[in-house]
Amino acid sequence: MFRDLLQKNRSYRRFDEEVRISEEQLREWVGLTRFCASARNAQPLKYVAVWDAGECEVVFETLAWAGYLTDWDGPEKGERPSAYLVQVLDTRISENCLCDDGIQIQTILLAAVEKGYGGCVIKSFKNEKLRAVLGLPDFLKINYVIALGKPCEKVVIEDMRDNGFKYWRDAEQVHHVPKRKAEELWVRREEL
Ligand SMILES: Cc1cc2nc3c(=O)[nH]c(=O)nc-3n(C[C@H](O)[C@H](O)[C@H](O)COP(=O)(O)O)c2cc1C
Repeated sequence: MFRDLLQKNRSYRRFDEEVRISEEQLREWVGLTRFCASARNAQPLKYVAVWDAGECEVVFETLAWAGYLTDWDGPEKGERPSAYLVQVLDTRISENCLCDDGIQIQTILLAAVEKGYGGCVIKSFKNEKLRAVLGLPDFLKINYVIALGKPCEKVVIEDMRDNGFKYWRDAEQVHHVPKRKAEELWVRREEL
């Protein structure tokens, strides 16, 4: 069911690193993005795929994880992503992508979850370092990194209380994600 897939599609930050993701699999997920809506139908987004274990290690060093978990430096060796899709904007096509980026990221993540994988969107990356690692020309601007792997952590959604939106981990390392209740997302115009 679509609702189950969405609920399962959490931001995962710990993976079984031994479960690798093939180039073919990454190609398939990227290929799905051609079916997505695109502002002006310009389709300026492209992906750099990283799946080699050595290269994954180098990319990992450019990323920052879970800012609210101040006593956690990100996944340990053995629990790191086994692939990355780096979403780049081809500025030769367009200087912006409006909301194409999010639509495509969600598409890729849902497809990954459907296959038993999972991932995390990363905006906190060392831009210049990552550009150098990937050898990107100036016309490709890094938008987001999608970290991917076989999740090995439990992530649960809970109802948000008192606007407490920070995610947290309990003593068993279960990751808790507060979400606003559905009724809070509904603007009651009669009360405005
Ligand atoms: C635009 C965007 C940027 C994000 N950047 C990061 C990031 O740099 N590092 C990180 O660990 N998580 C990042 N996340 C993941 C969010 O922290 C996560 O979506 C949020 O805690 C809610 O958890 P959920 O995805 O399981 O619902 C990002 C998510 C989005 C949508």
